[in-house]
Amino acid sequence: MAKEKTLFTCNACGGTSPRWLGKCPSCGAWNSLVETVAESASGGKNRLGTPQGYAGLANAQPVTPLAAIEAQDVARTPSGLSELDRVLGGGVVEGGVVLIGGDPGIGKSTLLLQAMDALQRSGLPTLYVTGEESGAQVALRSRRLGIEGSQVNLLAEIQLEKILATIDAVQPAVAVIDSIQTVYSDQLSSAPGSVAQVRECAAHLTRMAKSTGITVILVGHVTKEGALAGPRVLEHMVDTVLYFEGDTHSPHRLIRAIKNRFGAVNEIGVFAMTEKGLKGVSNPSAIFLSQHSEPVPGSCVLVTLEGTRPLLVEIQALVDGGSPAPRRLSVGLERDRLAMLLAVLSRHAGVACADQDVFVNAVGGVRISEPAADLAVMLAITSSLRGKPLPRGFIAFGEVGLAGEIRPAPRGQERLKEAAKLGFTTAIVPKANAPKRAIPGLSIHAVERVDEAMDTLRG
Ligand code: TYD
Ligand code: MG
Repeated sequence: MAKEKTLFTCNACGGTSPRWLGKCPSCGAWNSLVETVAESASGGKNRLGTPQGYAGLANAQPVTPLAAIEAQDVARTPSGLSELDRVLGGGVVEGGVVLIGGDPGIGKSTLLLQAMDALQRSGLPTLYVTGEESGAQVALRSRRLGIEGSQVNLLAEIQLEKILATIDAVQPAVAVIDSIQTVYSDQLSSAPGSVAQVRECAAHLTRMAKSTGITVILVGHVTKEGALAGPRVLEHMVDTVLYFEGDTHSPHRLIRAIKNRFGAVNEIGVFAMTEKGLKGVSNPSAIFLSQHSEPVPGSCVLVTLEGTRPLLVEIQALVDGGSPAPRRLSVGLERDRLAMLLAVLSRHAGVACADQDVFVNAVGGVRISEPAADLAVMLAITSSLRGKPLPRGFIAFGEVGLAGEIRPAPRGQERLKEAAKLGFTTAIVPKANAPKRAIPGLSIHAVERVDEAMDTLRG
């Protein structure tokens, strides 16, 4: 629902102002303006409190028992990029609204242009609305991608009303708005990119998608803190929220679904940025490992599970001493969680880093949020502190609790099998994840407590 307009009304004289002011412009009273909801032309003040009750306001509408409503499967069309389809839950959905966020330059426009071209080739009419680049720039990109003969319709426009009118005239099956922060509506006086504009424009586009069945894909910028710029409400409004992750210095990009009304969340799609655009990586399990010819201290391989796929990610730690104000820094892992793990290490395993700088990093720009990373992070830290590498072919996973206990990770067997497939030979896992039948090639140490796990690095 659109937010009602607010006005500031003077307590003393009833005069109004569109903004808050210290002094009433009508009667000159100080500090008398309070925020009120602007009254609509039809209703008086306190509309719901009329003596007739609610019935005077609108006619009651018929209701239907849920059982009498027929469920409809959503119609999906694969985009032609299988890694994108995987995160979308199988393809673009009729009338669905997708929000794609990510850092500048990570490849949002590239991916969407490739996807639109593939959809257009499969016979769906598409429209690419660009507010950030000119038509010529997009054409240049299409040449780079080798799709210069593409039939994708392009519109370089940032005014919402014109965009909506064009969509209505062109009737595409899929429309991309690149980006929602550049679009502005004539109805509002605030600047493009402001919270009010972003919210209003997204709301209009969402309503249009729902009423016409056109799929709308919105590109959103992220702030320095990594959240989508603009109101949180944007995430609530849309059906699917995808985030682009990855280090712009490495070629790999991850797309993660953090909300999906039409599919699983936390599913990831993996791409590599090449000279000719983004290419899907269908077997990504080993791309986040760095190559060490000999085992080095401060490195531990984690088997993490992203959506339906296990991924092996190298966790690196550097513990360096003697600083008067020790720093804790993490890249790709949560810093608060790191502080907690350090406290658990010190209390329950006697590994004290209180006076040390601690840096941890997940290789390849991948972001890890699952607690099953705990054990690998702790092992990497302990390994760096002691200057002792973990054995060759070593992996770990497991969540660590505040009491020093190691809790099982979901779908442990799958993780172990993937590690064995990639040639890893030793695993430290939570006791409850120990497989009932041996996995060929993998020797497994099941542990219950942090100190047991850290003993691997003793002696
Ligand atoms: P872009 O898709 O414009 O990112 P966003 O829309 O998220 O800001 O970013 C593309 C980046 O990728 C840019 O730095 C250039 C690079 N790139 C390639 O390496 N190969 C390509 O084929 C293309 C089109 C871009
Ligand atoms: Mg862009």
